Amino acid sequence: MKGIILAGGKGSRLYPVTRAVSKHLLPVYDKPLIYYPLSVLMLAGIREILVISTPEHIPAYEHLLGDGSRLGIKLWYKVQPVPRGLADAFILGEDFIGSENVALILGDNIFYGQNLTNILKRAMKLKKGAVIFGYPVKDARPFGVVEFDEEYKVVSIEEKPEKPKSNYAIPGLYFYDNKVVEIAKSIKPSKRGELEITAVNNVYLERGELNVILLGRGMAWFDTGTPESLLKAAEYVEAIQLRQGFYIACIEEIAWRRGFINTEQLRTLGEKYKMTDYGRYLLSLVNEQN
Ligand code: DAU
Repeated sequence: MKGIILAGGKGSRLYPVTRAVSKHLLPVYDKPLIYYPLSVLMLAGIREILVISTPEHIPAYEHLLGDGSRLGIKLWYKVQPVPRGLADAFILGEDFIGSENVALILGDNIFYGQNLTNILKRAMKLKKGAVIFGYPVKDARPFGVVEFDEEYKVVSIEEKPEKPKSNYAIPGLYFYDNKVVEIAKSIKPSKRGELEITAVNNVYLERGELNVILLGRGMAWFDTGTPESLLKAAEYVEAIQLRQGFYIACIEEIAWRRGFINTEQLRTLGEKYKMTDYGRYLLSLVNEQN
């Protein structure tokens, strides 16, 4: 399974903050936003990842994350010249995806919760079709929305409906078989001129190949597209980290726990940042091991 992080777009709902800086580089408490979606793909066990962003911001991501070798993963970068929509990721990523299945995560989505690793394991078992998620929210209007029948079979998928048919939003994490590339090429732009991920999901639904995993209460999901949601996410991360002492989306820790890097490599990474709590946390993991 290959992974794609979509970290382009204009970030216009965050202007003026994002006039000169990419949204996905903004801090969510103590680390850049993109660490959070990257951590989810790494938790899933995905080690080959394509980062897609705008022509002006790609160099900053390369500077931040490099080729991924320090994390025991492989990173590639691709420019999206214009924000043509989420499904454009599969067209831009065609060569990268090759003949494999692919997971897409939106660069502004944060997931955290006890069961996350197990849920990702389930999604990674995908052989055919698609796996998407449903997350209960008070107001589903700003999101993709999934409607079910009494037996929890999917009835419809709609993008930002004025009158949502359920309160289940579809978060920005999707697992697809290799057909997604052809499907993305076949869909037409929506009224707002974008290749919608919802159109892709509807093709899978029509084919009877769309699986939905419902995320429960124990899972936190944030879409950080607005100043308010960005702040709320940062407060959440601060509260958990200070209270429990566990770090959220610490990509070096995940790389180490997943066996992508060894303890010596983790020590080297910790030494680099040892003037910060983040670096000291990495070193505490090394010491815990010894
Ligand atoms: O967050 C979940 C929601 O994400 C889903 O429920 C919706 O179905 C899905 O369409 C999407 O809605 P948003 O309105 O949040 O999408 P937005 O345009 O904000 O883009 C999401 C991220 O993808 C954002 O970080 C910018 C990036 N992006 C977006 C577009 C349209 C790109 O990199 N390229 C693009 O062309």
